[in-house]
Amino acid sequence: MSITILGIESSCDDTSAAVIENGYLLSNRIANQLVHKEYGGVVPELASRAHQQNVVPVVDAALKDAGKSPASISAIAYTRGPGLMGALLVGSSFAKGLSIALDVPLIDVNHLHAHILSVFIARSDSERHFPAFPFLCLLVSGGHTQLVIMKSHLEMEIIGQTIDDAAGEAFDKCAKVMGLPYPGGPLIDKLAGEGNPKAFAFSKAVVKGLDFSFSGLKTSFLYFLRDRLQDNKEFIHNNRHDLCASIQDAIIESLTQKLVKAAKETGIRDIAIAGGVSANSGLRRAVNKLGERKNWRIFIPAVQYATDNAAMIAVTGYYKYLQGQFSSQHITPAARFDHL
Ligand code: KG4
Ligand code: ZN
Repeated sequence: MSITILGIESSCDDTSAAVIENGYLLSNRIANQLVHKEYGGVVPELASRAHQQNVVPVVDAALKDAGKSPASISAIAYTRGPGLMGALLVGSSFAKGLSIALDVPLIDVNHLHAHILSVFIARSDSERHFPAFPFLCLLVSGGHTQLVIMKSHLEMEIIGQTIDDAAGEAFDKCAKVMGLPYPGGPLIDKLAGEGNPKAFAFSKAVVKGLDFSFSGLKTSFLYFLRDRLQDNKEFIHNNRHDLCASIQDAIIESLTQKLVKAAKETGIRDIAIAGGVSANSGLRRAVNKLGERKNWRIFIPAVQYATDNAAMIAVTGYYKYLQGQFSSQHITPAARFDHL
């Protein structure tokens, strides 16, 4: 019998729905919310409203793309958290309602767990190039930066994390300082392509063990720009590419340094990166290069599955379904999770 999972993601500013059948992705629809652009960040109330408008058409489109009727769904997986409470409530209420209407089980999914399992998204056998357990994952998103050992699809151990800002936050905050719109990460990535990564050096934090810190780098970048702007009002404009390339290089170096340390300490050679920042072309290049040098096998989700999407929620739902890990109608969304 086929196992068909409908996944729903609504943790931040993307409303997404996806269908996975027997572990193969059939569809993945994402409605981005452009409404936040002019505010320089995600406005929670606007995000909730946009999710309410988008959730029905997005789910409908994902089912149509997959060629599936609601009656063929085996279970509904949805993002329980972490994320914006109002945004999470829209997805979870919709998922709960639909699970009652269709009389199918509900599966709550941790958004961070799902980012990691995005490396198991495949549309066909030729795409089934999966890591073996245990593998090491560098999870880098807008709100989190963690090093995680995945012991199975559902068991994980966090061995390092940021003590202040997340890597995505560092990208976004540095972009803001340069006057770039939100989210700044993809723009820095684009502008960095034509810049010199060694043009400017910024002081990086030294953090013990496998933890990360990005707030010092952000401050160093801010002070550096403030000083240069005093002499030359056009400094940012005239050096945009080199500034983007240099700050991106500094963030990548902080991330890969700890990744190398973690691989050495654990002896694990199957290495994954996941989360929105894993869409960064410089980070992808750096990790692939390290893989060649250190004889690691590298696993990176396709760019469309690196940033927020429901395919990762559906794939996590699929593995939870196989283990019979269903959730009750009484479970509430969680804006914060202290554990994976
Ligand atoms: O995983 P994600 O889509 O949402 C969260 O769960 O947080 O990650 C969003 C973060 C944002 O900070 C965004 O600027 C960053 O990922 N990001 C990038 C790139 N694409 C997205 N950062 C650097 N380079 C990119 N290409
Ligand atoms: Zn995310």
